[in-house]
Amino acid sequence: MTLKINWYGHACFLIETDGTKLLTDPFITGNPLSPVQADAVEADYILVSHGHGDHLGDTLDIARRTGATVISNFEIQNWLVNQGIQNAHPQHIGGGFDYPWGRLKLTIAHHGSALPDGTYGGNPCGFLFYIQGKKIYHACDTGLFFDMKLIGEEGIDLAILPIGDNFTMGPDDALRAVKLIEPEHVVPIHYDTFDIIKQDPNAWAHRVETETSAKVAVMKPGDVFEL
Ligand code: NI
Ligand code: MN
Repeated sequence: MTLKINWYGHACFLIETDGTKLLTDPFITGNPLSPVQADAVEADYILVSHGHGDHLGDTLDIARRTGATVISNFEIQNWLVNQGIQNAHPQHIGGGFDYPWGRLKLTIAHHGSALPDGTYGGNPCGFLFYIQGKKIYHACDTGLFFDMKLIGEEGIDLAILPIGDNFTMGPDDALRAVKLIEPEHVVPIHYDTFDIIKQDPNAWAHRVETETSAKVAVMKPGDVFEL
């Protein structure tokens, strides 16, 4: 069975598996490159990696409209419940949970996580999906860390890595991340949304494919990657 992985720009993906829609970090309103409108996005689950506005994004509006279950860390889940979101599932770093569509484990990420109103958002995280026998690592916002080697030991089919620099890994460290993870496929994200994170993804793809055996898919917002 093929997984349809739609990129909506920045760190936002809609992963479709067997009729279930998983939406990650839905920063749509305010993203100049978003190919979709927040009031038209469908979701059964919304995954929030950390509290920053370019990741929490339209979570509240989409969750209220669709009734989607929001998955995040415990601190963000508490905040969501205080905003009136009833369907919120807390996890935390290192913990996995078996959902009807597959398993999700939260990984570490080196970053911040304050919510827009200043509430403490706990530690930021990345996502490790186990869906239909495939493993997808969505690093979300992070700097390079050596424990990516441990994540790679799981046998990653697709790694989704930030390359924008300034707030997250830049191209050099993202290349080192590929060498630690050794995924089969890589998709670069978290670049070009704002001037401060402008990058050349094709130049990065060339470096990765020259120095590693990973295959890079440079996507445009709105593109679909099939795994
Ligand atoms: Ni962030
Ligand atoms: Mn970000």
